[in-house]
Amino acid sequence: MSITAIVYKSNTGFTEQYAQMLGKDAKLKVYPLDGSGALPAGAQVLYMGPLMAGHIEGVDQAVKRFQVKAVCGVGMSAPGRQVLETLSKANYVPNAPIFYLQGGWAPEKVGWLKRRMVNLVTKGTRRALQAKSQRTPAEQADLDMLLHGGSRVAYENLDTLRRWLREQN
Ligand SMILES: Cc1cc2nc3c(=O)[nH]c(=O)nc-3n(C[C@H](O)[C@H](O)[C@H](O)COP(=O)(O)O)c2cc1C
Repeated sequence: MSITAIVYKSNTGFTEQYAQMLGKDAKLKVYPLDGSGALPAGAQVLYMGPLMAGHIEGVDQAVKRFQVKAVCGVGMSAPGRQVLETLSKANYVPNAPIFYLQGGWAPEKVGWLKRRMVNLVTKGTRRALQAKSQRTPAEQADLDMLLHGGSRVAYENLDTLRRWLREQN
């Protein structure tokens, strides 16, 4: 069983960057979900989508059209076991492993309501970081991202996914 293509959805560009990077690396074609008409229905794909309130956007549509062999959520949260556990509960795709990548936060590219929603959710973390008299460079970077946006997209983050893809072929 091998993956034929990567299909993705991206609102502010982070998921798209990862999808393109991975496609280039694994020599797979990359299609935006809205422009995936050239792919035959039932094709075996890796689906990547941005996280919105814990849900991987577009995954339901992708599952209806394609055989989704793996799903990858891209969010602003730091990666870790807890993110993955929450994801696998909320975005169940039968027999498909779930991956998570940290994308970033681009407040200037989302509408005011969504920006407010995110600011509300991250308020506690922001306040806690701001209250510290001394912040480590990592904490300062986190605070800067929450306040002004920023990208965490990096090729190294793709290691686990690249390994998984290699095992499929
Ligand atoms: C309304 C809204 C809800 C979000 N919810 C989450 C979330 O639950 N978890 C998370 O890690 N990131 C969340 N994010 C952040 C995005 O997932 C993050 O910016 C992601 O990198 C966007 O990917 P994209 O640039 O491909 O659209 C949310 C963003 C918005 C606008």
